[in-house]
Amino acid sequence: MSLLRVEGLGKKFGGVNAVEDLSFAIAPGAVYSIIGPNGAGKTTLLNLLTGVYRPSAGQILFQEQDLTGRAPYEYARQGIARTFQNLQIFFNMSALENVMVGRYMQERCGLASALLHSPRLARAERACREEAAELMRYVGLQDYLSSVSDAMPYGALKRLEIARALATAPKLMLLDEPAAGLNPTEALELDDLIGRLSDRGVTVVLVEHNMRLVMGVSDQILVLDYGRKLAEGPALTVRNDPKVIEAYLGSAITPETPYGGDVARAVAVAVEMQR
Ligand SMILES: Nc1ncnc2c1ncn2[C@@H]1O[C@H](COP(=O)(O)OP(=O)(O)OP(=O)(O)O)[C@@H](O)[C@H]1O
Ligand SMILES: [Mg+2]
Repeated sequence: MSLLRVEGLGKKFGGVNAVEDLSFAIAPGAVYSIIGPNGAGKTTLLNLLTGVYRPSAGQILFQEQDLTGRAPYEYARQGIARTFQNLQIFFNMSALENVMVGRYMQERCGLASALLHSPRLARAERACREEAAELMRYVGLQDYLSSVSDAMPYGALKRLEIARALATAPKLMLLDEPAAGLNPTEALELDDLIGRLSDRGVTVVLVEHNMRLVMGVSDQILVLDYGRKLAEGPALTVRNDPKVIEAYLGSAITPETPYGGDVARAVAVAVEMQR
């Protein structure tokens, strides 16, 4: 049985089909990557898979339960967590408190505990802090346990988002460009973290332009182009698919690039893919 299954999914913005007639299934425990040129519909798809957008067509089934049209909190409650392409950190909170928000979302720790001076609630609060600290260590943030989040480097904040998502004890974790903005060493360390998430039993959906990372960690890769499935399969199949190379390189070398003007990025990605 698949963990997540999508049937004929579509999302229109005005006249633009950001996602169109998309069907795929993700096996439990897999690292399932979604790639494609800028504007291909990757973030829109993650927004559909977390209930942020309602689909214009199709169905989303999680553990064979139909979640189509449900609110984001219901997706979260079923065990779907995510990180964002643009960081969504609460900068007025400490790093640890950012992770604790994930725990609160899971309703393990009562927010009231800070206000009520019940010993039981105070113990729960302490346990919550300790669990959050443990997750920070798990993602490699042991040096930031007492940091304020706005004093942390970018790479550490990306990990902090992963820790916060993990704090909701997800079955499925959606990562939107976790390597973007990281230096090469930090990006290499992500391979290890994604591998460990998978070992922990968390199924991972990875949206990423860093092809070295994608090709290294993925069990399956879905290639989107103009919102549609262009190819799907393991890394070796996808990386040698002429349609995929064409999607990246083909239009990047013409002046009328559909990549939002981001030719450099498209070419860099295409060149990486052909290595
Ligand atoms: N909220 C929105 N309103 C209108 N159009 C949108 C909206 N979100 C996305 N789009 C359009 O849908 C298409 C897919 O965009 P999306 O952000 O999903 O692409 P992406 O694959 O994540 O790109 P990138 O690699 O640049 O992050 C684009 O044409 C985009 O302009
Ligand atoms: Mg995106």
